[in-house]
Amino acid sequence: MSKYRIALMPGDGIGKDVMEAAQIVLDKIALDAEYISADIGWEFWCREGDALPQRTIETLQTCDCALFAAITSKPKEEAEAELIPELQGKGLTYRSPIVRLRQMFDLYTNLRPCKAFKGNPLNFRDDIDLVVFRENTQGLYAGVEFHPLPDEVRSILEQHSKGMSAFSDVPADEIAISCRVFTRSGCQRIIRAAFEYARTHGYPTVTLVEKPNVIRETSGMMVREAREIAAEYPEITLWETNVDAMAMWLVKNPQNYGVLVSSNMFGDIISDLAAQLVGGLGFASSGNLGDRFAVFEPTHGSAPKYAGLYKANPTAMLLAVKLMLDWLGEMELGKALHQAIADVIMEGKVRTYDLGGENSTLEVAQAVADRL
Ligand code: NAI
Ligand code: MG
Repeated sequence: MSKYRIALMPGDGIGKDVMEAAQIVLDKIALDAEYISADIGWEFWCREGDALPQRTIETLQTCDCALFAAITSKPKEEAEAELIPELQGKGLTYRSPIVRLRQMFDLYTNLRPCKAFKGNPLNFRDDIDLVVFRENTQGLYAGVEFHPLPDEVRSILEQHSKGMSAFSDVPADEIAISCRVFTRSGCQRIIRAAFEYARTHGYPTVTLVEKPNVIRETSGMMVREAREIAAEYPEITLWETNVDAMAMWLVKNPQNYGVLVSSNMFGDIISDLAAQLVGGLGFASSGNLGDRFAVFEPTHGSAPKYAGLYKANPTAMLLAVKLMLDWLGEMELGKALHQAIADVIMEGKVRTYDLGGENSTLEVAQAVADRL
């Protein structure tokens, strides 16, 4: 029996291209692992009415972790129109499989390292080394939303919140509410994950990115918990920054920051900004981490116009493999892979189109594998 069981979910479009690239590198690394392909994505929605079939969930339950590439998703009406005729009109609704995976497996940490590789012509600066910890299961993405607003919900809100009285003459179908749900343990575990990472990897600061002066209850809870947890890490300084100001500081002096921690939506936005500072989608990888299971992915989508053309930059996918190796405890292999990726970028001979080159996805992966 192999040491690890790892699910591979290529998904749609360039997801298939970059997963092939990952396999070139995984073959070279020769990790003691069994790889199991699992279905996810648009074709399974169209054919089966489920982008994340039950058999995939069952496969994942037998695995240590998964590599996921990218999927296509479309708005409600389009999604329903593309179902096979037998499935139409059955009330099926499309839900993002990756959001479902995060919630189903309680993958509460979204880890997004954004470190500039020397020699990457797309760098905003060469000395950026940011690591974003985004809460992955709660906040504004918890799915607690109302439209039209039920009378009972309105009356309870009016009873308990002065702010609600400003909207008392708005008709139910002209008001929409999305709730921002934080729990104390949810705040604690993402903040602790950020501090642990900073300690292990030697970052001197953790910056909490919220907006407690305005969003008093939820952001306020994050601040309270962060201050308490920070006391356990005397060697690390806690900085507190409002999310709007953070967007500005990240453009002004990103080199001053290290680990950032935030709630779901703010973390989503800040991590895309951070990713663009170090080369954009072709370089942005992430880990969705729980206590016992994790899913690693590039953050880009399926880029349908490049599907099957092997033009996509596989670096984001290969960095997702690196995150996976670290999470499995294979730190030496992770370090070697990171170095091989860095060498290929630094040398600048084998490059995909986004870096001004003409090489294919698989040629870049092969160049990385050759250095391992
Ligand atoms: P996208 O990330 O697929 O692509 C946007 C553009 O970025 C591409 O057209 C391409 O020019 C560039 N790009 C993306 N990945 C690249 C790579 N590895 N190398 C070089 N260039 C790259 O985003 P878009 O076009 O908004 O969405 C396409 C589909 O992907 C949609 O159906 C969307 O819902 C889905 N999507 C899925 C995600 C996921 O699987 N986690 C995340 C984002 C979008
Ligand atoms: Mg995003």
